[in-house]
Amino acid sequence: MNQRINAAFASYLIRPDETARLSAYELGRQALEAGTGLMDWVGTVHSAIADRFRHAESPAECARIAVAAEGFLLECLSAYEMTFQGAREANDALRRQNDLLESETRRIAHEIHDTAGQILVSVYVELQQLGAAKPADAGPYLARVTTLLDEIQAHLRRFAHELRPTMLDDLGLMPALEALGQSVSSRSGIAVSIEGSTEGRLAPAVEIALYRTVQEALTNTTKHSGAARAEVSVERQRGEVRCTVTDDGVGFAPATSHNHGLGLIGLRERLASLGGSVRWGSIPGVGGAVLAVTIPVEASHAASSPNS
Ligand SMILES: Nc1ncnc2c1ncn2[C@@H]1O[C@H](COP(=O)(O)OP(=O)(O)OP(=O)(O)O)[C@@H](O)[C@H]1O
Ligand SMILES: [Mg+2]
Repeated sequence: MNQRINAAFASYLIRPDETARLSAYELGRQALEAGTGLMDWVGTVHSAIADRFRHAESPAECARIAVAAEGFLLECLSAYEMTFQGAREANDALRRQNDLLESETRRIAHEIHDTAGQILVSVYVELQQLGAAKPADAGPYLARVTTLLDEIQAHLRRFAHELRPTMLDDLGLMPALEALGQSVSSRSGIAVSIEGSTEGRLAPAVEIALYRTVQEALTNTTKHSGAARAEVSVERQRGEVRCTVTDDGVGFAPATSHNHGLGLIGLRERLASLGGSVRWGSIPGVGGAVLAVTIPVEASHAASSPNS
């Protein structure tokens, strides 16, 4: 590659026309395709340019090399720039997609909460009337039906709140996680503890991403781990918020090709759109699973009211 770069810069110096520009661009594209990192690539181009300076025979030639170097470098980097822009656009699209998903989730949650709630109220009323007109031995059956309806109502309420936790909007991440932990705990029997603080409110997109992270991690703990305990911890330091979910279950099995779950992959994509990252694995020496998420929270990310 070094020889090709030297030759391309030599042609560019002689005549910086479309052909010379195209071959500089093409070298950059090939370097990118070969997986060369940006730093390494700039280093390679820089040494080709520096080489020409070393062999320059007059100040006038130095000046000519300096002028040509700028255009040549820009051409060599333009494939990287296009990839960078593409990644940024993909991230923006992903973020918009997540926003859309959240607003749809909010609509479904309200639908369950309000519509299903209203229907249940009507059933209760009908049952009361039936109770008044009941044959003598229908009493115990009616009581059982009422108990079942109470259960359905409680489940639907909890489900609607988990789907779109209004607590998250109103009170912030930690109270919403507390409620989620209790809900998972009462459903699964796993003891869930929530610790730490966000040191004030975070941007809504960051709060909902962290909430969805813990929701997926605890669902996984319930489904896959056989754990008795799970621990969620949140901390904010040096411009980032970090959230860790651990459990004392069987831990992650070695990777297999049969694993087609979407939960962790979805999390990775959601976090990438916020500049964050997620890692998971078994806890060395102890067993159990750990999932750790980090999201940058620059000043512009943070919301104002410090009540979480
Ligand atoms: N806490 C855990 N303990 C043990 N194994 C886990 C744990 N969390 C995830 N895994 C393993 O990692 C796999 C991938 O998890 P992921 O959430 O992506 O998929 P899933 O839960 O199987 O399906 P989905 O989330 O799409 O409903 C799981 O199938 C499971 O084998
Ligand atoms: Mg899952």
